[in-house]
Amino acid sequence: MILTPLNLVNAGSIVAMDVSAGAGRALVKKGVQITSRDLEDLHRRGITHIYIEDGNELSTKPDGTISEATRQIALDAVTDLFDHIEDFRRFNLSRVKIAAERMVDDILANEEINVQVQDIRQHDDYTFKHSVNVTALSLALGRRAGLPRDELMVLALGGLMHDIGKKMVPLEILNKPSRLTDEEKRAIEEHTTKGFEILSQHTNTDPVIWSLARQHHESLDGTGYPDRRKGKDIHNLARMLQIVDQWDALRSVRPYKPAWSNERVIHTIRSSGETGRMDPAYVKLFLKMVVPYPQGTVVQLADGRMASVVAVNRHDPARPVVMLLSDRNGRPVPEDQRTHLELLQEPPETAIVKSLS
Ligand SMILES: [Fe+2]
Repeated sequence: MILTPLNLVNAGSIVAMDVSAGAGRALVKKGVQITSRDLEDLHRRGITHIYIEDGNELSTKPDGTISEATRQIALDAVTDLFDHIEDFRRFNLSRVKIAAERMVDDILANEEINVQVQDIRQHDDYTFKHSVNVTALSLALGRRAGLPRDELMVLALGGLMHDIGKKMVPLEILNKPSRLTDEEKRAIEEHTTKGFEILSQHTNTDPVIWSLARQHHESLDGTGYPDRRKGKDIHNLARMLQIVDQWDALRSVRPYKPAWSNERVIHTIRSSGETGRMDPAYVKLFLKMVVPYPQGTVVQLADGRMASVVAVNRHDPARPVVMLLSDRNGRPVPEDQRTHLELLQEPPETAIVKSLS
């Protein structure tokens, strides 16, 4: 299968993986021939990429962190949790706990964790998907940082519930497409303290989980919110969560912003590590596991040539093996003359400058 930008998918192609709208409903099912109506519908929902059958197996799982089945279980559990928050007597964490456990099992079963960045994006159920993505990513980071299983469990539960306080923020503020007033900004920032209150008053969980809801927008340099904590006053799991939370938010389409390009997001996260807003050691670890150009991505090299990624190099995911599609002047290379280039062995002028798919 190959991850393909939606605008390059032809009607009639075979879908290689369910495209879901959350809560168990698949918009397009694996194995069907996609129609132009399906394509229009997906486009409307903000989906930018889907998996198409091309007769080849993917070398890694789509995002290399957790299985699709686990992702769906987690998504259903988070959706259910948010649906029942107002009724605290029914505030039942058993589904979330099962989901957290499965996610940790998946992460620990993975020999090699890579995060392929062109995941399927959509915005109609942002908070739920975001919570699951953030959890999967933070577990991957936690595993790379060598956390033991019990800490990964705390991270998983904290990740799934870190934005629970958003339930108390009016949707019209959360999804406001234009600039926020100071008051609206404060209302959004309060999701951290509200989340802490909900979890500390209504659940019998590890207090670190409550802190993750409260501290995931704190910055190492004291410029974050709500408590302007600094450095080691921010729990190390919250410092991990801060990185992956930003990562996922920047890469997503939101009512008030488009999805940022991979290059821009990577650059922003990298410089946040350098300027001391984010934990530099965790930022380094995180960027090492991110695969900015998954197999099948069309990229442009610094010398103007275009190429498509045929294999990811695990020593440096930013410099994969590519197949050349055009020469420096943009002239296409005939199919039978397309050669492979290992970017890791090449001089810097062949670095990838942007992805085109
Ligand atoms: Fe948040």
